[in-house]
Amino acid sequence: MTTLRLRPEDPADTGPIRRLLAAAFARPDVRSPPEVGFVEELRGTDAWIPELAMVAEYGGEVVGYALLTRVRLVHPTGTAPALALGPVAVAPHRQRLGHGTAVVQAALDAATELGERLVVVLGDPAYYRRFGFTRADRMGLSSPWSGLGEPWQALVLPPSASGEGPVPRGEVRFPPPWSKI
Ligand SMILES: CC(C)(COP(=O)(O)OP(=O)(O)OC[C@H]1O[C@@H](n2cnc3c(N)ncnc32)[C@H](O)[C@@H]1OP(=O)(O)O)[C@@H](O)C(=O)NCCC(=O)NCCS
Repeated sequence: MTTLRLRPEDPADTGPIRRLLAAAFARPDVRSPPEVGFVEELRGTDAWIPELAMVAEYGGEVVGYALLTRVRLVHPTGTAPALALGPVAVAPHRQRLGHGTAVVQAALDAATELGERLVVVLGDPAYYRRFGFTRADRMGLSSPWSGLGEPWQALVLPPSASGEGPVPRGEVRFPPPWSKI
């Protein structure tokens, strides 16, 4: 039986991920969706965390992708590391089969394993609430997108074994590639 395999990307996945993103985000008016260049620009920066670039593979094909990269939470007494989720993509011919949910959850689980505490996302709450994301502005988190209201969301991951304190309120700062999205 063919099963969905969830694993961090490896160098051989670069081309398949590019094609997956191009297909998932295709629009008639755009030759190459910005998500393709965005991922390639982030890869190799210090925001990139190899364990948190997650692919879903089905029958040897990369059919899903969920990316968590480093952002910083600037709060009144300093800064704290956080993660941003995106892009999330599933190949059009494999959508609505649970692959998106599986690959996002795998990325979030891997982040929890690494001791990460906070993930933010900009997206449709109807989709992201299944993972526990809620409005980030109501958690005291701002960003260039906080004015959008509901789509600006955050998730506090379970504490790691070391047990950290509560997540502070503050401003989430994104590295330059995010300004293109
Ligand atoms: C969004 C996306 C990743 C979901 O992946 P998927 O494998 O189709 O999703 P799943 O099968 O895990 O979940 C399906 C559920 O998500 C919902 N859903 C799918 N796409 C959605 C969207 N764009 N907005 C809101 N809900 C969506 C479906 O209604 C379904 O809901 P249900 O579980 O209540 O029936 C996929 O549709 C995709 O790649 N879309 C194009 C790219 C995109 O918009 N990415 C997200 C922004 S970064």
